[in-house]
Amino acid sequence: MEANFDVIVIGAGPAGYVAAIRAAQLGLKTACVEKWIKDGRMIYGGTCLNVGCIPSKTLLEISHNFIEARDKFEEVGIKIDKISVDVKNMIRHKNKIVSSLIDGIAALFRTNGVRVLKGTGKILKEKKVEVSHQGNKSIFKANNIIIASGSLPCYLKHVPLNGDTIIDSASALNLLEIPNRLGIIGAGIIGIELGSVWCRLGSKVTIFEALDNLFPSVDETLSKEISVILTKQGLNIKFNVRILGSVIKNKEVKVNFMDQFGEHSLNFDKLIICIGRKPYTQKLIEKESGIEFDDKGFIKVDNQCKTSVSGIYAVGDVVRGPMLAHKASQEGIMVAEIIAGNNVQLNYDTIPWVIYTKPEIAWVGKTEQQLKLSGINYKIGVFPFANCGRARANNAIQGLVKIIADVNDRILGVHIMGQNASELIAQGVIAMEFSASAEDLALTCFAHPTLSEAVHEAACATSLGTTIHKI
Ligand code: FAD
Ligand code: NAI
Repeated sequence: MEANFDVIVIGAGPAGYVAAIRAAQLGLKTACVEKWIKDGRMIYGGTCLNVGCIPSKTLLEISHNFIEARDKFEEVGIKIDKISVDVKNMIRHKNKIVSSLIDGIAALFRTNGVRVLKGTGKILKEKKVEVSHQGNKSIFKANNIIIASGSLPCYLKHVPLNGDTIIDSASALNLLEIPNRLGIIGAGIIGIELGSVWCRLGSKVTIFEALDNLFPSVDETLSKEISVILTKQGLNIKFNVRILGSVIKNKEVKVNFMDQFGEHSLNFDKLIICIGRKPYTQKLIEKESGIEFDDKGFIKVDNQCKTSVSGIYAVGDVVRGPMLAHKASQEGIMVAEIIAGNNVQLNYDTIPWVIYTKPEIAWVGKTEQQLKLSGINYKIGVFPFANCGRARANNAIQGLVKIIADVNDRILGVHIMGQNASELIAQGVIAMEFSASAEDLALTCFAHPTLSEAVHEAACATSLGTTIHKI
């Protein structure tokens, strides 16, 4: 059988659609298989666009604007007499944004010549892909296959979803009423981001967390501070909790849990389960294909996303590493380039993380606790946004920039908590990608007045041991 395509990509999330577009741009005959179809319409963009990054950030932005207008505007001279939220309109607005971006991907597929194969893809042996849709099956052959099937939420067997009172993160992005009492199991990134949305809009939010602290992978200076800030914002986070079960009665859910003081229960109008995600590989791979999995169920790949079968790659949430959209997309691009014969390697040490709380938290590289654990000597420099003119002008003085460097001044980690940290972190990523020293940043001229000056001053603190605007 002759190959139908140079490349078949399975999944049109940020890993898959980006890989497919780049492969087509590189002159490869490319197809993308996607099974998400709603009311006859192809749904591109995967988790990220439809039930992840974009909808959550839209709701975070709207809910933040609401709180600013209600609680902060008067202080700076803007008076609003009456303010309220129209949740149905908010969700409609969010859906409009998602829909327009789905159309955008469809247009990119068309203009780049990516052929869409509608249906569920399954990898057979000898690099064949079976695509099934509404009872019809077709088999295609490819010289290369890129698996980009993503991830699914993990569930708790003893707290089963019912689609109404007990829901997952996707449904929590589509609530048409503000729940009075909102319970969340899991104080990870999703729990905190979604908890923040609904708390700002008026829900009384309780979050149950199995661990004894918040965000263990965040640098401790920041995680301790954000914990206090989130509590002040109204999130009630219960740590060291074991969930015993749930009972649904009269449109409310009772959560039974245990903490250091014994067994308790609390009632909620809605309960969101967000305790992590797992690779999505169900019915995806025929055993004879030879593709191997690791002990956590991820598809086993090397650092260039090559699986155990030559010519088959896997990228994004379905493989090891952080479950982040930008990591997924960059892996997609790397693999497309490799297939086209280019030697490209993604630098896994400089993938940024962002948690979209207010203030935002963003980081790249090593945390202080990681360096302590590995016995690496380091120095740090910290600069608070309270000392930054632009942060004061913006009325956004919470947070700081912390830069960690090795004894030779090479930057090992940049940690930012503050307004626009999600944008500022790119400076740390670029600096690290170019193996910059803290002095390189300290000797660079930054525009005034900008929040970036806090990055500059933190670099001065790291490199020179002193800053201009701190006593
Ligand atoms: P997915 O986006 O899951 O896409 C996989 C696609 O493959 C899907 O469209 C699926 O239908 C399709 N598919 C699966 N199996 C098959 C098959 N057999 N045949 C055909 N098609 C198939 N990350 C960030 O970086 N920033 C954020 O702010 C952020 N916010 C998030 C908020 C939430 C609430 C959630 C849940 C996630 C968030 N993420 C965020 C994570 C991000 O969404 C994922 O890392 C990203 O979507 C992974 O991309 P992917 O392409 O690997 O997988
Ligand atoms: P997570 O791994 O970030 O957090 C899950 C939390 O649930 C952990 O703190 C864990 O200790 C806790 N937990 C697990 N089982 C529990 C139990 N039985 N009882 C109580 N607590 C329990 O996973 P989450 O929040 O579901 O998000 C999944 C992934 O999606 C993230 O890891 C991230 O990669 C991605 N994401 C990224 C975002 C961003 O970049 N801003 C936003 C949202 C998601």
